[in-house]
Amino acid sequence: MEKLLSVTLAVMAAAVVTVVPSIAQHMQPSRVSIEHLEEARALKSPLPDSPDVVEKGKAIYHGKGTCANCHGPEGAGDGPVASQLNPSPRNFQHHGFWRHRTEGEIFWVIKHGSPGTSMVGFADQLTDEDIWALIQYERTFAKGHGHGRGMGPGGMGHRGGGSGGCEGEHCDR
Ligand code: HEC
Repeated sequence: MEKLLSVTLAVMAAAVVTVVPSIAQHMQPSRVSIEHLEEARALKSPLPDSPDVVEKGKAIYHGKGTCANCHGPEGAGDGPVASQLNPSPRNFQHHGFWRHRTEGEIFWVIKHGSPGTSMVGFADQLTDEDIWALIQYERTFAKGHGHGRGMGPGGMGHRGGGSGGCEGEHCDR
């Protein structure tokens, strides 16, 4: 009996050691502080999906927003100053990022920043509409995978434009 117990404990310990770091790497916990999370997740873009909005976002990303300096010209998180930053700027080409966030959480971080990182809030420089346009542009870096629904109800679904097709019941946007 004692032997069985120690074997069980050893197996459990091994499981913890292998599972925990991969969660830390892949879960990408929200950058919105817990007291604002519900409010942030509920935010929805008032802008229609349109090429004009994407163009507006693009102009801000490469212009007055200075986003490209850190996030890179193609959104890969490899802008000219990125190598000096810890943590690194987000890579918008990464599909997992879009799956782990609602658009409201992303909006919140662009507006208010991610505390303790070089991602400062842009509330003073950009209007809400500027920020929503930026998000629409940043989605284009992930090709068809930029329409994540976050981890909440209906989350983890995305619209796979062109290649993957629509997954799950939330294929409306
Ligand atoms: C000085 C460098 C810098 C600039 C300029 C910058 N960012 Fe960031 N950004 C970062 C870093 C670093 C992170 C990662 C923060 C973290 O891990 O919490 C980040 C994270 C993000 C995220 C991910 C938030 C999340 O929920 O994980 C978004 C979205 C984002 N930035 C958008 C923008 C936009 C839009 C602009 C331009 C208006 C911009 N950033 C400008 C450095 C920058």
